[in-house]
Amino acid sequence: MRPEVGASVELTIDTLAAGGDGVGRHDGRVIFVPRSAPGDRVQAQLLRLHPRYAHAALVRVLEPGPHRRESPCPYFGSCGGCRWLHLDDAAQEAGRAAILRDALTRIGGMRELPPLTHVRSPRSLGYRSRARVAHARGRVGFRAWHSHEVVDIERCVVFDAETQAELDALQTATPRGSGEIEIRGYSEEVEVAGRKLNVGPHAFFQANRLLWDRWFEVVVKACGTGQLAVELYAGVGFYTVGVEENFSTLIAVERGAAVHDARRNSKAQVIRAAAESWLPAQVGKLLPDLMLLNPPRSGCDARVIDALRKIAPARVVYVSCEPSTLARDLARLGPNFRLTGLTLLDALPQTHHVESVVTLEHIDSRSRTHVQ
Ligand SMILES: C[S@@+](CC[C@H](N)C(=O)[O-])C[C@H]1O[C@@H](n2cnc3c(N)ncnc32)[C@H](O)[C@@H]1O
Repeated sequence: MRPEVGASVELTIDTLAAGGDGVGRHDGRVIFVPRSAPGDRVQAQLLRLHPRYAHAALVRVLEPGPHRRESPCPYFGSCGGCRWLHLDDAAQEAGRAAILRDALTRIGGMRELPPLTHVRSPRSLGYRSRARVAHARGRVGFRAWHSHEVVDIERCVVFDAETQAELDALQTATPRGSGEIEIRGYSEEVEVAGRKLNVGPHAFFQANRLLWDRWFEVVVKACGTGQLAVELYAGVGFYTVGVEENFSTLIAVERGAAVHDARRNSKAQVIRAAAESWLPAQVGKLLPDLMLLNPPRSGCDARVIDALRKIAPARVVYVSCEPSTLARDLARLGPNFRLTGLTLLDALPQTHHVESVVTLEHIDSRSRTHVQ
């Protein structure tokens, strides 16, 4: 009998998918079930059917898997913020690694991956020092699961004490109307690996303060040393201030308001431009030893990757917050770059988000002498 929308099915969850859902099979079809855990036996209701897969809602956990736990947050299920509160730390870490490897092999077409270095957050709760919170009709918190409604949140388990204090202040003096506000548990001057950085109110900045130094060190080390480095999507210069110490010249490119901070924070030449307009114009002019990329979730514009392929730097270090677009961009970059380093950062515990850094060497890089 063909299953129908609304039908109830029983299945065992095998893995976690990008997006955070648990995944199992029923009647040969792949079924995505939010808030399920590997090893769970669940009852689920089919919501959207495709020939080979379906999305379902969790009705009941019939038998919990070995990594299911009681959520440490009372808002789990209504708040749309963290999707993995029902999983223990080990399952979350394994899930992120599997999502990254799967994207690189399936979308990126890579047959062999270098060993994965896993950088864990010192704390998996109380770590977050920046967030966008929503407010509407006197409520302050996060958007509900698959909805624009605002769930009123008094205490967020992933916030650090300073960020929670910012949320408390908003709860006491709730803004009128509706909208979103960024709250931060740090001032406009922060310290990363002993270097002072200005972070303006509209600039992007890593949300897990506990990992700032470690992540900076991982990326700066991956970049190596040399004559000329080019950094795209530089933000306030989080990596710039470290990489510039190891290269004779560093050119950093940033499109947004963060460019003002980057110019104050670093000695590099900071250019205000869109990467996809600037980089193609450098083909045949610049011969960098290193290109460092840290694009937003959407990844790099195809024009950036095409230009990168032509420029053929000895080394590319790509810092990504979205494995699927990272993998797409690496596939586009083609076979002349070899993947030599792979690091995963548990930047946002309790969520399915995957932050990673990959190092690629150009296969002719022996002709360049400066890169370690
Ligand atoms: C993920 S953030 C990384 C910032 C910085 N590397 C850091 O770790 O703090 C991406 C940055 O790229 C900038 N950006 C987005 N699209 C861009 C584009 N097309 N060209 C240049 N910069 C862009 C954003 O303004 C943002 O500062």
